[in-house]
Amino acid sequence: MSKPELLCIGHRGAMMHASENTLASIHKALLLGALCIEIDVCSVDGHLVVFHDERLERTTDGKGYLKDQTFEYLRSLDAGDGQCIPTLEEVLLAIDSRAGLNIELKGSGAAAPVVRLIAELVAGGYDKQTILISSFNHRELSEIKHLDNEIKLGALIRGLPVDDTRFAKDLGAFSVHPSLDFVDQQFVDDAHSRGLKVFVYTVNHPEDIERMYQLGADGVFTGFPERVVEHYVQRDNASRWCV
Ligand code: G3P
Ligand code: MG
Repeated sequence: MSKPELLCIGHRGAMMHASENTLASIHKALLLGALCIEIDVCSVDGHLVVFHDERLERTTDGKGYLKDQTFEYLRSLDAGDGQCIPTLEEVLLAIDSRAGLNIELKGSGAAAPVVRLIAELVAGGYDKQTILISSFNHRELSEIKHLDNEIKLGALIRGLPVDDTRFAKDLGAFSVHPSLDFVDQQFVDDAHSRGLKVFVYTVNHPEDIERMYQLGADGVFTGFPERVVEHYVQRDNASRWCV
């Protein structure tokens, strides 16, 4: 019997194997066979940095709110295993269109600089189709759409709206990214009826991975890429995101 298809998206790289959102974590995800990778991006002190939390303590040896720091201070920190907090540009250069990259925008104010950076890299040959920008902040997604309507958008949500995935279609999104805690059959079917892909976060347990496959999800964000890659086919297409 042929293997079923379910897209593996490495969560913060491969965060259950390496320090999250570092270049080491991204390389680990690629090594484990992930064709797509998710990272979190914030605009701080005029720079786009790859970081998840509002505060520094959980993942670095620094202290305080991320937004209050200088870029110089952030770059001096240990983000785990001697790795520094990478910039979005460093991640894009490391991946170099070899994998799909999901840039999740945290906070606000990152939309315009992210679009500018992507335009620069695309002018140098980067494949725009491999990039997918997502956010819980749908105003940021709307701004991206306005600035460059060719960039794929993923609408993140933590809950179940009364009209299912209509909000994502209204945003002109490529995909909708529901939480494992809320996603159900009605939501998945509604997304597919509107032509949207469904990528569920964060799915680490093998039983949950299989449950998401049975529900008809197109892909899952996981800290254990090998658990998806081993049992589900990864279609090696040009954009990486078309499952
Ligand atoms: O993008 C999927 C997932 O990463 C969203 O939640 O908090 O892990 O960034 P969070
Ligand atoms: Mg994220």
